[in-house]
Amino acid sequence: MKRIFSGIKPTGHLTLGNYLGAVRQWVEVDQHRADADPVFCVVDLHALTVEHEPARVRRLSRQAATLLLASGLDPERCTLFVQSHVNEHTRLAYLLECTATDGELRRMIQYREKTAGAAAAGQGVRLSLLTYPVLMAADILAYGAEEVPVGEDQRQHVELTRDLAVRFNQRYGHTFTVPRAVLPRVAARVMDLQDPRSKMGKSHASTAGIVYLLDDPATVEKKVMRAVTDNDGEVRYDREAKPGVSNLLDVLAACTGGEPEALAAGYDSYGALKKDTAAAVVELLRPVRERHAELVGDPARVDAVLASGAGRARELARPVVDRAYRAIGLLPAA
Ligand code: TYM
Repeated sequence: MKRIFSGIKPTGHLTLGNYLGAVRQWVEVDQHRADADPVFCVVDLHALTVEHEPARVRRLSRQAATLLLASGLDPERCTLFVQSHVNEHTRLAYLLECTATDGELRRMIQYREKTAGAAAAGQGVRLSLLTYPVLMAADILAYGAEEVPVGEDQRQHVELTRDLAVRFNQRYGHTFTVPRAVLPRVAARVMDLQDPRSKMGKSHASTAGIVYLLDDPATVEKKVMRAVTDNDGEVRYDREAKPGVSNLLDVLAACTGGEPEALAAGYDSYGALKKDTAAAVVELLRPVRERHAELVGDPARVDAVLASGAGRARELARPVVDRAYRAIGLLPAA
């Protein structure tokens, strides 16, 4: 059985980027594979790496789990749990901090971008922002995952995870499976509708360019219809020269199963492209919103799924992390 692992961070409401870049693969592909055992996690500890409000993180963690179930994750087909319920993640993270170097963590793009932003605002960043990719590596390696279905922005973190696994194995004997990132064919990087050169992210300052999974149809329509494009009026797929139009084509292709280049040929105006994209996104999200409305009234059901998921996750991770403790030279407890 191939182990699959992926996670989502409760730092904001889930977006269309999260859905197309990651969650949809988990729901539609990963959990249906006969050869795979998928494990999905609401990675709440990662939400503490930036300024946070305790009650909000708690609320968003539950909301993320509810939305993952509403999106179609089936607890009979996968393991779903909350990271902080399973101690093995932080246990292993320390050993990996003793494997990684300060330099390789400082090179991570997300760290550089976030520290630059904080410095410009005259603020510092939490130490955990630097070590965050090591915790992410622990998330993946603790489960012996071979595949990590993620969007494009996580590719570098998965590469680091591979490097750490290989280094640890070489120094201390074979302990970890070396994982690889699996990206969706289209929409691996959905861009902000108002700023199509930036990724659509949960915590962007302005929300006008972000479609949230729980946005109502009128809001989705408004956001897509107001998407920033360009002035030349030609519908053509070219992510460099025409980022706004290409982003809409990517989203439309991801929703309808087409190819962005081929879809472009069917349009001679931005208005028609936006109208069809808005309608496709509304239809894509409709069942998710409906199931979410049902599930939100039954928090005990969500808690039960998370409790049994954490139990299974502990069973999977414990032996791997214990093995790593022995391999690195720590004396086993009597
Ligand atoms: P996070 O919470 O930012 O995003 C969750 C998933 O959604 C993808 N994603 C996108 N895909 C396409 N376009 C976008 N605009 C977009 N925005 C987000 C992300 O690539 C990700 O797959 N560090 C991770 C969480 C994490 C994790 C892990 C993932 C922690 N441990 C272990 C995999 C395995 C993160 O911040 O994702």
